[in-house]
Amino acid sequence: MRYVHARGYPVPRVVSVSGADLTLEKVDGPTMQDALMADLGLIGEHAAVLAELHHRLHALEAPDWLPRRGQGDRVLHLDLHPRNVIVGPAGPVVIDWANAAAGSGVLDPALMIAIALTAKANAEPMERRHIDSFIRSFASHFDAAELRGAMPEAVALRAADANVTEKERAELLGSEWPIPEA
Ligand SMILES: Nc1ncnc2c1ncn2[C@@H]1O[C@H](COP(=O)(O)OP(=O)(O)O)[C@@H](O)[C@H]1O
Ligand SMILES: [Mg+2]
Repeated sequence: MRYVHARGYPVPRVVSVSGADLTLEKVDGPTMQDALMADLGLIGEHAAVLAELHHRLHALEAPDWLPRRGQGDRVLHLDLHPRNVIVGPAGPVVIDWANAAAGSGVLDPALMIAIALTAKANAEPMERRHIDSFIRSFASHFDAAELRGAMPEAVALRAADANVTEKERAELLGSEWPIPEA
């Protein structure tokens, strides 16, 4: 978090570190998820903000102490979805950096899509449509061929996550990707 903060990326300031405990600056505001639920008319705007957070992050070269995830030398967050963005008074900030790694930038948006697809398993029909609409809007900010190319790895990564339930895994593996054809 300090590495990206020093390079102008919006994260809460790290106040102190003690073992596995972090004390962070408190950022007031809803998560992007809560902001979306409060006003579904803003799906396109929030999706654009999230896509920009991805693009800005992947402009940063990774330090050599980050774990590697395949080819590439970009900083990856690998959990950069609407629950890990706080819409703060000075703009959006990104939290929850436990999975940060070095790799190819496109893996991050592909994984955000895989995470959103698993979330559909627990959603009502209306909400499922909103999730697809958010994914489509988010995906439109990336090169479609690159994004599709990264989806198999992202789906495999997500499917292997120990926190994903059988129902969510089935949803993920059975889903069409609501992203444009290349
Ligand atoms: N710096 C912060 N300022 C305000 N709230 C925060 C901050 N960091 C985390 N939170 C709150 O805690 C919740 C969980 O934090 P997060 O780091 O995403 O952990 P996890 O997803 O593993 O539970 C967030 O959704 C947010 O509501
Ligand atoms: Mg989180």
